[in-house]
Amino acid sequence: MTVSEALQEATQQLRTVAERPRLEAEILLADHLGCERSMLLLRDREEIEDAGSFWQKIQRRQKHEPLEYITGRAGFYGEEFFVAPGVLIPRPETEILVEEAAAMIRSRDASRIVEIGVGSGAVSVSLARLFPELEIVATDISSEALTVAGENLRRFGLEDRIELRQGSLLDPVPESVELIVSNPPYVPEGTPLEPNVADYEPHRALFAPGDGTELLRRIVLLGRERHVPVLCEMGYDQRAAMESFFRDEGIENYRFYRDLAGLDRGFVVSFEVEVKGEE
Ligand SMILES: C[S@@+](CC[C@H](N)C(=O)[O-])C[C@H]1O[C@@H](n2cnc3c(N)ncnc32)[C@H](O)[C@@H]1O
Repeated sequence: MTVSEALQEATQQLRTVAERPRLEAEILLADHLGCERSMLLLRDREEIEDAGSFWQKIQRRQKHEPLEYITGRAGFYGEEFFVAPGVLIPRPETEILVEEAAAMIRSRDASRIVEIGVGSGAVSVSLARLFPELEIVATDISSEALTVAGENLRRFGLEDRIELRQGSLLDPVPESVELIVSNPPYVPEGTPLEPNVADYEPHRALFAPGDGTELLRRIVLLGRERHVPVLCEMGYDQRAAMESFFRDEGIENYRFYRDLAGLDRGFVVSFEVEVKGEE
């Protein structure tokens, strides 16, 4: 079977699962051939070697497995990260968390921060690449996530500036840090999700008990305990719950940030100085 025939057939097979079946067929075939997607056109009459393993990838995708797990790659903040089952695929909206963290690191001239829930390492790696002097301690409860993050640190040559520690929240971080950054699990338990997420991505990276804000609230309280500002991503509909929590706790110095669609996506809470850019 030639490249062009395989693309046609694979596109057909992916129609029921993919929004853009041709694009996904091209990504999977380029991955199989070990070439750029743009090269497929030039190779369209070439016979495919080891076609069986290409069709296995198509079958995995037909069962709703995310493309990123099949290729082992996910794009984030302009770079390509290694991902594997067991770790959350980094999401585009989390790039705003990186931007917000970068602004805080810059304005505070921070040199040592912590990320809670490092996952694939996408956030910590992106920040370490923006700030060549920055040191990061990054925690996660999941050993699979830490293995994937470790591989990304190795690929980006950041093992000496990002230290991975296994444990819950700040349990493995007794020392002082200047900023807490986190994209913790915040989807309320029981929320129905698409099969590519629900059946494949790790539930402990996604779900939190009750209304989903439990870990967000615990992280804020840790920030207060340690007199350190906290920056978190949250669900677009969790602002009211967080505001009510801030009110109950007498926390006044906070602001929410939004995504490009105008949805609330996260917050900054400060426990030492005024938060800049209050809404
Ligand atoms: C939503 S994912 C975020 C991953 C990555 N930072 C990103 O933005 O793509 C949440 C991560 O928090 C981890 N996690 C869940 N509960 C945790 C806890 N109590 N302490 C530390 N990490 C936790 C999960 O294993 C998962 O890797």
